[in-house]
Amino acid sequence: MDRIVIEGGVPLRGEAKISGSKNSVLPILAATLLTEDPCVIRRVPDLSDVRFMLQLLQHLGAEVERLDPHTVRVRARSVADTAPYDLVRKMRASVCLLGPLVGRLRRCRVSVPGGCVIGPRPIDLHLKGLNALGAHLEIKEGYVVAESRGLEGASVSMSGRHGSTVLGTDNVMMAATLARGRTVIEHAAGEPEVADLAAFLNAMGARVSGAGASTIVVDGSERLHGAEFEVVADRIEAATFLAAGAITGGEVAVHPVVPAHLLPVIALLRDSGFDLTEERDRVALRPRGPIAARDFATGPFPAFPTDAQAQMMALMCVTPGTSVITERVFPDRFMHVAELQRMGARIEMEGTTAVVQGVEHLSGAPVMASDLRASAALVLAGLVARGATEIRRVYHIDRGYEQIDEKLRGLGARIQRIRED
Ligand code: EPU
Repeated sequence: MDRIVIEGGVPLRGEAKISGSKNSVLPILAATLLTEDPCVIRRVPDLSDVRFMLQLLQHLGAEVERLDPHTVRVRARSVADTAPYDLVRKMRASVCLLGPLVGRLRRCRVSVPGGCVIGPRPIDLHLKGLNALGAHLEIKEGYVVAESRGLEGASVSMSGRHGSTVLGTDNVMMAATLARGRTVIEHAAGEPEVADLAAFLNAMGARVSGAGASTIVVDGSERLHGAEFEVVADRIEAATFLAAGAITGGEVAVHPVVPAHLLPVIALLRDSGFDLTEERDRVALRPRGPIAARDFATGPFPAFPTDAQAQMMALMCVTPGTSVITERVFPDRFMHVAELQRMGARIEMEGTTAVVQGVEHLSGAPVMASDLRASAALVLAGLVARGATEIRRVYHIDRGYEQIDEKLRGLGARIQRIRED
């Protein structure tokens, strides 16, 4: 298992090249199963989660070919109906195979992905949505077993206790592209990744409108065709690099990005005292003067993204003042707190709220990566801590950040990966 060792204290400078979005590409790759034609996907990030998804597609019978390191061609002439536990358990996002499989095959078996360290990950809304389209779904022996005589368009609400659901919206949208008639998805997730998937589906000949807003309308088609598509830039990777610039007092730009996707992150950083400039596909950060801690709460887009909560908490740990951070999407997503405390952070938990008191410095320590974003927060803390920080279980970071160590080294960070097999 690889480790990452960071010597903190270098203000980062330069431009970070942002990869394609993990949370866009995973459902987009699943959507290639909706057609028997070839699809070519560009700007595919080289991540272990992407490799898991490609393995799953291959297991289901698709031909997968890498045309270059960031371009993948998938052709699913025929598709098997079972996504087994051994592959699905590696990645919760495998649940987004459900929509394409039930849409194309009418019946399928997808292993229930189970919870993960960020808390329980229910799929009731996915099941409710597909059920409204006419699929009969049951959980049997650890599998979601879906059967239908053909899907029919329907009106579906994706609203749950913690807001909408991103992959649930994706699943219903994908299945609806091959349903008879019109599907209206109310309380749809409005995340940019949902809009990106809809753009890919439309490139395949689907008729999806409204994605990115709370009502999505899908007019079903008899068949979809192959398409070429470029995945949108990863707004969470970009937020992480902006936070890396901020926490080290450096000057960092991220490119290419869609600045509108980063608005809540840009607003929080500006409010904390940083200077941010937005260009067409680039955002640059530099210090402006004194900085001050700010409160924030996560929520569905366009609120502050839960996937950047841990990274911003790391920043608030070394920002003067008190920050009250509330997690409204995944109430248990605080795995990073105990590790940050081991580095000297002053954080108190009150239910789903963390109260962070900025300290003058953190100190390097051996820490354990526990999930993807928690690990990114530890990298950020390591970049500013005094002394060396050694992060173990780096495979969590590799699930969602392409060559994070190399990219940070390019900005001047003293960071090394120690490879161990
Ligand atoms: N929820 C339900 N029922 C459901 C589905 C979700 O109650 O059927 C709840 C969840 O428990 C949670 C909330 O709804 O409280 C939102 O979960 P959502 O379904 O939107 O999460 P997801 O679609 O499984 C995606 C991202 C996550 C990201 C969330 C929220 C992918 C592959 N994953 O997950 O990304 O945190 O949306 O934006 O797109 C990450 O990248 O680190 C990550 C975890």
